[in-house]
Amino acid sequence: MTTPTLQGRAKALLERLDRLAACSETPGQIDRPYLSKSHRSAVALVESWMRQAGLETRIDALGTLVGKRRGSGTDPGMKGRSLLLGSHIDTVRNAGRYDGPLGVAIAIDCTATLRDAPFDVEVLAFGDEEGGRFAGTLRGSRAVAGSFDPRLLDTTDANGISVRAALRELGANPEAWRDEARAAPLGYLEIHIEQGPVLERMGAPLGVVTSIAAATRLQLELRGEAGHAGTVPMGGRRDALVGAADAIRAVRDSALPHPESVATVGQLTVEPGAPNVIPGLVRFTVDLRAPTVSQRDALESEVTRRLQAVADANDLSLAMTRIHASDGCACAPALQDRLDRAVRSLGLTPPRLPSGAGHDAMAIAAATEVAMLFVRCKGGISHNPAESVTEDDVALAIGATDAFLREFAHGT
Ligand code: GLV
Ligand code: MN
Ligand code: MN
Repeated sequence: MTTPTLQGRAKALLERLDRLAACSETPGQIDRPYLSKSHRSAVALVESWMRQAGLETRIDALGTLVGKRRGSGTDPGMKGRSLLLGSHIDTVRNAGRYDGPLGVAIAIDCTATLRDAPFDVEVLAFGDEEGGRFAGTLRGSRAVAGSFDPRLLDTTDANGISVRAALRELGANPEAWRDEARAAPLGYLEIHIEQGPVLERMGAPLGVVTSIAAATRLQLELRGEAGHAGTVPMGGRRDALVGAADAIRAVRDSALPHPESVATVGQLTVEPGAPNVIPGLVRFTVDLRAPTVSQRDALESEVTRRLQAVADANDLSLAMTRIHASDGCACAPALQDRLDRAVRSLGLTPPRLPSGAGHDAMAIAAATEVAMLFVRCKGGISHNPAESVTEDDVALAIGATDAFLREFAHGT
């Protein structure tokens, strides 16, 4: 049998991702929240790819699909230690098909071709990277890193279903979360689309990530008083949605003076939500990112100060909960250099760039050295169905990952 070319592997891999796109809560769109029915079907499909690649599979306590290739056992010092590769298979609403699954599919493909590594390789298809269904994110990767907070099993979704109950439905045993912490992993590699325009502007198909931004997500409630839209005079209203409009602008204005920081209100619900009722309650989220923890914290203080001022000015009460915080992480310099060599072996010079997006890598960084390889995406567009990568770039990403693994396993 002839060995498939990088191009042939890329073509087959992109066809797989086209099939995965059909695992969705919403026909015609990609919408695959953590522990949903569509996540369960995605786990089954990706598990079939892992099995074809000769990996032993299991679903872990937090719903991460794990595919393991055992090492040759020739180096007793490596016994029980794994090199970890992974990314996520959950998506945002109306997502593209590459954010997360591209990295999982490349990891499976390259692990299949790695011969006689002296250590185990584990491919991790995480399920809770985007965090749309339950407050908080990164449960799967935090469990692997040994930093999981079990209170996150009790978080409930909008229908009152807990993470614990949803995990049982997937066939996972959430009570075993402690067992997922890996003993001294050898490192972690995540391949991901860039989700920004830097590589495209530089004419570079691949890039080596230097660090991942710090982030916070807040859940907010502005409470006023519902009332009759036809009878309550304009002067006496406590309209929560009018306050929310001011609040959204205040969030944006907090970040504007800081070009490296970003602030977004991405979700908002209005209650009672009828055309003839003054809105009494608005719930919304705020997502903040900055290159360092201190910049992120300064932005968060500015946002919360301004939101309180908006609430006071509109005679509303404000409740605020921090539902996610990540300090971001640095990618290990030695692994960045390894990735750099792997990309150069293809005749390319990879730029180094930071990631403004969050990734499972930042949770895994608590347990081991991490590296990330970015793949150029069209127009830098992501979290959007227009997400797009080329077969040529994916072929290069496969080639670079092969070279990275070969050097890791055999030193060449
Ligand atoms: C994940 O996509 C994130 O950065 O929010
Ligand atoms: Mn994403
Ligand atoms: Mn992602």
